[in-house]
Amino acid sequence: METITKTEQTDSASVDWILALDLPERKAALACLDELGDSLRWVKIGLQLFTRYGPDLVLQIADRGYRIFLDLKLHDIPNTVANAVQSLASLPVDLMTLHGIGGSEMLQWAVAARNECAPEMRLLAVTVLTSMDAIGLAEIGVHNSPAEQVERLAKLSLAAGVDGLVCSPLELAHLRKAFGVEPVFVTPGIRPSGAAANEQKRIMTPADAIRAGTSYMVVGRPILAAKDRRVAAQALNAELQAGLSGNSF
Ligand code: C5P
Repeated sequence: METITKTEQTDSASVDWILALDLPERKAALACLDELGDSLRWVKIGLQLFTRYGPDLVLQIADRGYRIFLDLKLHDIPNTVANAVQSLASLPVDLMTLHGIGGSEMLQWAVAARNECAPEMRLLAVTVLTSMDAIGLAEIGVHNSPAEQVERLAKLSLAAGVDGLVCSPLELAHLRKAFGVEPVFVTPGIRPSGAAANEQKRIMTPADAIRAGTSYMVVGRPILAAKDRRVAAQALNAELQAGLSGNSF
C-alpha cells in the first residue's frame, strides 16, 4: 500500500474515523489493513491485540503509515500510570486512554509524564463504560446516574489536563456545550447508514456525530464484518465527507 505522508494526514482539528482493529491475531489484523490500504488513516489497537503482540504490533502498523490510537484504558496508582506513559513514549502513539475514575492525581501524573516524555501523545479519559448502567454504578457505591457520573468525571479529567474524552455519541452535544471546542472527543457507537447496530444500543450516524461535535469516530464491525471491507471504508469516507460539508447522505 501507499505510505501516508505527513501532509496527507488529517489535521488534529478536523474530523476523521478510526478503525477499531478488534481481531484476535496479527495475521488477520495485517490482512485487514492490506485490504483497506489507504482508505483509512487511523487504527485503534486495543487490549486484545496489545496483550498478545505488544509494542511490536504497534510499530508494525505505524510503519505502514497509520496513526495509532492505543486503547489501554490505564488505571493504577499515579506512579505506575506515569511510568507506563513513560514506557509508551518510545512508540508512535497519537491517542492513548486512561480511566477518569483513577482520579485527579493519577491523571495529573500521567499528563506530567506525557509532557516530559511524549509531548505528541494525546491523552483521553474514559468516563463511564457504556457497559455500566445505574445498577452497575450503585453496585460499586456510585449513586449518581450514569449521565451525572459522566459529567463529573469529564470535568475532573479535563481539569487534570487530559486532551479529551472517549464518550458515547449521545453524550456529545451536551459535553461540547459544557466544555467548548477545545477537547478532543472520540466516539465509538457509530453506525454508517444501513449498517447493523450489533449489540450497540446508543448509536449515531457519522453525519449526526459530526453535527454533535465529534473529533474522531471509532468504527469496528461495520468495516470488519463487511463483505468488501474496502468498499465499506470508502462508503464511510464518502458519508463522512458529506457530513462535513453539511449534506445529508
Ligand atoms: O464494532 P464496533 O464499531 O461496535 O466497535 C466499537 C469499538 O469501540 C470497540 O473497540 C469497543 O471496545 C470500543 N468502545 C465501545 N464503547 C465504549 C468504549 C469503547 O464500543 N464505550
